[in-house]
Amino acid sequence: MHTDRHFQELFGIDLPILLAPMAGPVTSELAIAVAEAGGLGALPCALLSPEQFRSELGIIRQRTAKPINLNFFCHTPPVPDAGREAAWRKRLAGYYVELGLDPEAPAPSSSRTPFDSALCEMVEEYRPEVVSFHFGLPEKSLLDRVKAAGAKVLSSATTVEEARWLEDHGCDAIIAQGAEAGGHRGMFLTDDVSTQIGTFALVPQVADAVSAPVIAAGGITDARGIVAAFALGASAVQIGTAYLFTPEAKVSVLHRQALRSAQRRDRHHQCLHRAAGARHPQPRDARGGADIRSAAGLSAGRRRAGAAQGKERGGGLGRFQLSLVWAGGAAWTGTAGRRTDARAVGGSAGTDVGLAPATRHNLPAYKRF
Ligand SMILES: Cc1cc2nc3c(=O)[nH]c(=O)nc-3n(C[C@H](O)[C@H](O)[C@H](O)COP(=O)(O)O)c2cc1C
Repeated sequence: MHTDRHFQELFGIDLPILLAPMAGPVTSELAIAVAEAGGLGALPCALLSPEQFRSELGIIRQRTAKPINLNFFCHTPPVPDAGREAAWRKRLAGYYVELGLDPEAPAPSSSRTPFDSALCEMVEEYRPEVVSFHFGLPEKSLLDRVKAAGAKVLSSATTVEEARWLEDHGCDAIIAQGAEAGGHRGMFLTDDVSTQIGTFALVPQVADAVSAPVIAAGGITDARGIVAAFALGASAVQIGTAYLFTPEAKVSVLHRQALRSAQRRDRHHQCLHRAAGARHPQPRDARGGADIRSAAGLSAGRRRAGAAQGKERGGGLGRFQLSLVWAGGAAWTGTAGRRTDARAVGGSAGTDVGLAPATRHNLPAYKRF
């Protein structure tokens, strides 16, 4: 049982629970609610313009005095590969036609900005308590500036080797991201998916390999998962998918519909890729999305078509399988089946796990286990 408060003291929080930064669904509203409930709120910055960054962070600083984690990508943007793109386009052409989209329309470029000097200046200006990175760490001069601004630094490891690398390069705590995790895999020393193991296998190995505190991420949605993570050597947990079900999450009607219908067996990372027959698209996507631009184009086009026809609400097009809807392997826990599960966090979680119950009352329930 977890009794040590070292992690909470290090990060200035009451509960050893981190809101996973989720570019898109997590905005200031969710970050503030989690921070005020005692966890570590996060603002994912990968998709924010400088204006949005200032506005969101301004709101957070106005409404809570609690620590905040600013999250950045530090991937190397992929070199466009016309041949690979054409192959994807060919594979997806039938879906474009089915949805009345132009198969020749240019693929959208990635809007995910890697951490750079300009973003570092904003960190220096706003001095967040925590800065987390995905896909490794930025170059040393930038990392030194982040640390000099007073931020504790986190990053995700998907293998023991990555965990050791992060510790050697100055991370204050390491997020062990298991294969169940939703969203981009943070892998950065390899793009071989066969190296990717589940949270229960990864966390104890990472805990044995590094001396920095370990934060377990992937497939944790309730008190049972939190207790298990602590038993395996974690000092805290980072939770993403479970928060997608909260009213504070900025999730489209389509995405919510997909989440609600999640099955226990679903990996549910990106249904589009399942449709395209690619079982494990994450690593290349994680490197900036070159492989999925056609897919993203299809998804965006599909959303536009749905909106234009006023059909998205109620699932008129009925094919969210063709949209990029992100979630982790534990998405089913927010569905109707879960609602009847008395052992769910606090015994009352349901599809709309309100944030108040999810964090203020339910998540601390791990203490009662
Ligand atoms: C919709 C979604 C978006 C995500 N975006 C980010 C991101 O912008 N930055 C990041 O570091 N991690 C991101 N992640 C990964 C999370 O930080 C975390 O590793 C994951 O959610 C944990 O697994 P869980 O979803 O099973 O709780 C994202 C996850 C999801 C589900």
